[in-house]
Parts: sequence; C-alpha cells; structure tokens
Amino acid sequence: TVEQRIDLLLPLMMLEEKVGQMNQYNGFWDVTGPAPKGGTAELKYEHLRKGLVGSMLTVRGVKEVRAVQKIAVEQTRLGIPLIIGFDVIHGYKTLSPIPLAEAASWDLEAIKKSAAIAADEASASGINWTFGPNVDVANDARWGRVMEGSGEDPYLGSKIGYARVKGFQGETIADLAKANTIAACAKHFAAYGYVEAGLEYNIVDISNSKLYNSVLPPFEATVDAGVRTFMNSFNTLNGVPATGNAFLQRDILKGKWKFDGFVISDYASIREMIAHGYAKDEADAAAKAVIAGSDMDMESYLYVAKLVDLVKSGKVKESLIDDAVRRILRVKFELGLFDDPYRYCDEKREKEVVGSRANNEGVLDMAKKSIVLLKNEKNLLPLKKSGQKIALIGALANDKNSPLGSWRIAVSDDTAVSVLEGMQQYKGNQLTFEKGADLLKQKATFLTETVFNTTDRSGFEAAKNAAKNADAVVMVLGEYGFQSGEGRSRTDLNLPGLQQELLEEIYKVNPNVVLVLNNGRPLSIPWAAENVPAIVEAWHLGTQAGNAVAQVLYGDYNPSGKLPMSFPRNVGQVPIYYNKYSTGRPIDSDKNVFWSHYMDVEKTPQFPFGFGLSYTTFDYKNLKLDKTSFAKGEKVHISVEVANSGNYDGKEVVQLYIHDEFASIVRPIKELKGFELVNLKKGETKTVSFTLTDKELGFYDNEGNYLVEPGTFKIMVGGSSDKGLTEKFELN
Ligand code: IFM
Repeated sequence: TVEQRIDLLLPLMMLEEKVGQMNQYNGFWDVTGPAPKGGTAELKYEHLRKGLVGSMLTVRGVKEVRAVQKIAVEQTRLGIPLIIGFDVIHGYKTLSPIPLAEAASWDLEAIKKSAAIAADEASASGINWTFGPNVDVANDARWGRVMEGSGEDPYLGSKIGYARVKGFQGETIADLAKANTIAACAKHFAAYGYVEAGLEYNIVDISNSKLYNSVLPPFEATVDAGVRTFMNSFNTLNGVPATGNAFLQRDILKGKWKFDGFVISDYASIREMIAHGYAKDEADAAAKAVIAGSDMDMESYLYVAKLVDLVKSGKVKESLIDDAVRRILRVKFELGLFDDPYRYCDEKREKEVVGSRANNEGVLDMAKKSIVLLKNEKNLLPLKKSGQKIALIGALANDKNSPLGSWRIAVSDDTAVSVLEGMQQYKGNQLTFEKGADLLKQKATFLTETVFNTTDRSGFEAAKNAAKNADAVVMVLGEYGFQSGEGRSRTDLNLPGLQQELLEEIYKVNPNVVLVLNNGRPLSIPWAAENVPAIVEAWHLGTQAGNAVAQVLYGDYNPSGKLPMSFPRNVGQVPIYYNKYSTGRPIDSDKNVFWSHYMDVEKTPQFPFGFGLSYTTFDYKNLKLDKTSFAKGEKVHISVEVANSGNYDGKEVVQLYIHDEFASIVRPIKELKGFELVNLKKGETKTVSFTLTDKELGFYDNEGNYLVEPGTFKIMVGGSSDKGLTEKFELN
C-alpha cells in the first residue's frame, strides 16, 4: 500500500532530504538549455541536483517537465520524483470561462467536465497538480479575485468546489494515478475572500459566525470530495497569518476534518509573516509555519534554509517534518509518480490533447451555459438572422485577448474567438464594426497594471454613424481581461474609460442597444439597467467566447445562467449580498427615517444573486410540503410545479431558499439550500422536488458546533433570490 511504501522510504531519508521535499521553487531557467550560472537560478538548480527540491511550479510542457524530472530522478541520491504544480484555473491552453462565470451556469456536471478538460490538457503537458479550485466565498466586488471563485454563496460554492475537485482528480483517489487527472488544491485557506475593503493582500476581520457558516463550508466540501492539497492564504485571521495559523491548519483541517493530504503555503507567504509583524526573522517564520501545519514552502526559500537547524536545535520536532513529508510523499505515490515519473510526459499525447477539437467544443458548451441574460425588453433578443443591419461597437468586440481573462499563464495572447469573429459566422445580416474608442493605453499583461485610454474620442463619430443606420446595435463593453484577478482591486465598479460616455452617445442615435458585458466581477451599471433594452452578461468566457456570445445573441442557444454574485447599484453598497443577517429595523414600519436604508439609493442590488432571464418565461405554482410540522432528523419533502409559459424551449435553475426565523444566533434573511436545473420544452410543465435534512437546516455556533434548533422555517422557491413562492414549517 501507499502507507507501506512511505514507511519504507522515510527512514532512508536524511533530514536535509526530508526538508527538501517540503521545498517548492518557481520555474527558473530554460531547463532544456545549459545549466544556469549565478543568482537564484543557480541556487535552485544546485538544490534540485542535491535532492533539496520536492516540487516545481510553472514549469510546463513535456520537454521541460521531463528535463527537470530527469534531474530529480536520475541525479539525486534517492531519486524522488518532483510534483509539478501549475495554476490551471480555468483551463490550460483551451480556456473555459473564468470560474465566476462558470458558477453562473449552476451546472455542476458541466463545471466538472470543464475541470476534467483542464486536467486532461495540463496533464498532457507534464503537469500533475493544479492550484485550484479557489473556494473563497467573497461578496466584495472591489476585490479582483472574485473572478476566481464561485461568488457570494457558501452552498453554491460548496457544490461547485466539490464538482471541480472531482473534475480535476477523478471520482476516486485511485483515479489520481491515471495519466489524464491531476491533484487539486483547495485555496486559499482561509478567509482571503473577506479582505477588508476589497483591498488585495489586506487583513481579514470577520466574525466566528461568518467563518464557520460562510468561509469554511466550501473547504470542507473539497475535503469530502477527496482534495489532495490545500493552499493557505496571504491574509491574517484574528491577527494570525493563515500561513502560521495552527487553529486553521492543525485544529480544523488536519484535526476536525481529518485531511490527510498536504498544505502548501502561498507564494512567499511564509516569509511575509515577517512583514506582517508575526515572525521575528526568517528562522522564526519557518518555525511558526511548520508548527502551524504548512507542509510545503512555495518560494520563501525558508524551509530549505532554516528547518534543518531548527530541528537540530530542538526548536522544531522532527516528527513534524516527518508528518509533512509523509503527506507530500503520499500524494506523489497516489499520482503514480514513483511508478513512472514520466507518466505525464508523453509528447504524442501532448500533441493530440492540447487544443483538441473536443476540448474546444467542451469549453464552448461551458461558455454558453455561463452567460446570463439580465434584461430583454422590446424582444430585441434574439436577433433576427437575416435582412438586418447590425452595428457592433466597442473595442472589446474585436479583442482576441481580453476574453481569455486573468490566470492564463500557458496561453498565447490573442487566441480567443472575438465577438466580431463569432458574429461574422452569421452571414444573413450586414455587420459593421466600429470600436468607438480604444480601451487600453498600452498592452495589458498578467504582471502589469491595466492602463486605460481615457481621452481619445476620435472614433465616436464613426461609431455613431454605424449605429444610426442599424436595426440593432450590439455594444461589447466592460473590463479588460486583466482588470480582474490577483492584484486587481478597484474602488470604482463602473464601466472603465470612455465606455459609459460612448454607450450614452450611441443610445442617443439608436436606442435599440444590446449591451454585452465583459467583466470578471459584478459591475455597477445603473444607467444601462434603466435605459438599455437588452443586457447580456458575458464575463470573460475563454477561448470560444465570441462563438458563445454570437450563438446566444442569435438564439441558437437560449441563456439560462443565474448570477452567483449580487450586482450593486453603486460601489457604496458593497459588500452587498443576498444572505445577509437579519437586522432589527429591516423595513420602514414607522414611516420615518430610522430604519436600515440609504438616503440616496435603494438598498436592494441592481441585479440580485440567482437572477437571470431566458428567452422564454417560467411560471411557478403549487409549492407543497409533505407536512407542516417535522421532528429533528426527519426529511422535509418539497415540490413545486414549473411551467415553460413562453415561446422557446428553455432551461431554468429552480432555487430553494430557507429562512430560520428564530435561533440562538441570528440567521441570514435567506439561505440557498437546494437548486435543480430543469429543461422545459415550450408549453411543458414539470414537478421539481427538494429534500431538506438536518444538514441544510442547522448552522454553526460561534465555537464551531453544528446545531439544529427547533423553530419555524420559511421556505422560498423561485428563479432568483429576490422572489418566489413561500411556505412555512415547524421543526420540533
Ligand atoms: O496559486 C497562486 C495563488 O493563488 C496566488 N499566489 C501565487 C500562487 C502560485 O502562482
């Protein structure tokens, strides 16, 4: 067994070699070229040859991976293979939509398949471990990394996290050894999604209730799914950096949840404990991290430099090192790396799999499922397929780079299908493109700030002329692909640059505007929401973005996505989320000013969580419970009839929310506790059923104990978090 094999190997390892397994380096030199001379590259290379490196990240491609693996396997004393990590966040080369967009599909099978495609391509390129899924629940759209998660809801986030782990790793641990699966990594443990004010790398200050009920459940779901690794986070929690946080990593993760995989630090986060003011010096940082349960050091260079001495001086117990190494070796054995270190290094497979037609079809399907129809008045959509003059406006419409979004390290620039290219496939109409205004001042990259052009209006006239003569105007506006993601916090959620001005100018000459949004986070678009007749949320949809958008605009695909995050009316409402805790003055009962509200804007979001339209309409009726009074432990059966009452076949995401009206800790006003996707033909009605158990009806108290308390529960079933049919029941 794996454990027996570890039992045989561990005693053969010198302390230095054990610590080496706990050391991860970023890709550093042209591994297929000559040995590097000087600087950190030479140091890393020397460490690799001495068996002092257990893992590498960002090395990719069969040729390169084979070259580094060969050093580890053939030149080191014990020949322990490397585990090769990479940020496969929404695909490897053939990109799926950004994770937030995928979450809008609410389609767990599709999301799992998308992760499996990513695993297939990454593993074919030599990679055996991804730093995903990101299961950070987040409700502050100012934070750029909301694009990487599944939005604001822990229930949806848990289901999606579970699906993604299965997609990457396969159904069982045994599947990990297959050449087309990779180990997954739940990140960032924990609470990074709550950085204060949405400011990147900021501190986190949240209640225990939030921690236990919102932050931790999706992580626990990934453990249930068998996730093999965790990554900790850059933030502090109650003043303790996550990397040095024994409560999170030892008590909860490895203790309560019995996680037997390993924990990797985030990039340099062990060293950053010095800047946090939590570690005195490098040795202190290394000691604190390993004692707290961080098993592998990503690019802090501190485990390799300090742990041997720390053990020898008795400051760190060798048993902690043994435990960390056992965990790392376990995953390497499970991946089959000891049986064949070159299992993921097959050039022929790499050529066949990466960018294959099947993978492109797969990501196109995912992209269509991720689109959310936010508004459709005057039946502007779907567009007629012939005899129409269509003006396509906006620099993003002709952009082949932006739709790739952030986190696309292996992907060449300009490889997405643009909206222009997608719409050009429909040849029955006359299509004119005008950018109106440039979006960027300079080329945007993963590592640099995205700088917008804010002054050049010289393209406005041509765009207005195109719009004037058109039957319909499609405007593609929003954020550039690199405007969300890590290091991309914003204090303004409006359309950047000149885009709002352009939109209003175009609307003046032709109000038949279809606004296609590209963005990695909720935006505030109050003017558009009020005036523009049709709005399509198209995120950053990946390689096949333009085809997906065109197929939706032309009605070859009926959109069914629902928002996984609330869209604010303005940035001042942020954080805004549907599942907020009950307050003492929720409504204007005394008809005066002293209730929970804003003076200048409604307190509801512009578009709520769970909201999304279709080209057809759905009616809900006959919400039924099998009883109105239940005992703890009993199952509550709920059914509802959903009818397609419109003119198209369609798909609806039927959502079930509960509200625990009274409890020992104040509960959210609504909590998602079930959802079903139903396909309904025009005129068809189906009965959709849900079951609630103690698992959905309870909550965590402030010490992390799970409680199911008697009381009255309200339920709501509908197509959005803001309205639906309601019922009540008692739990005794
Ligand atoms: O995986 C990422 C993490 O999410 C943020 N810091 C860098 C890591 C490796 O690229």
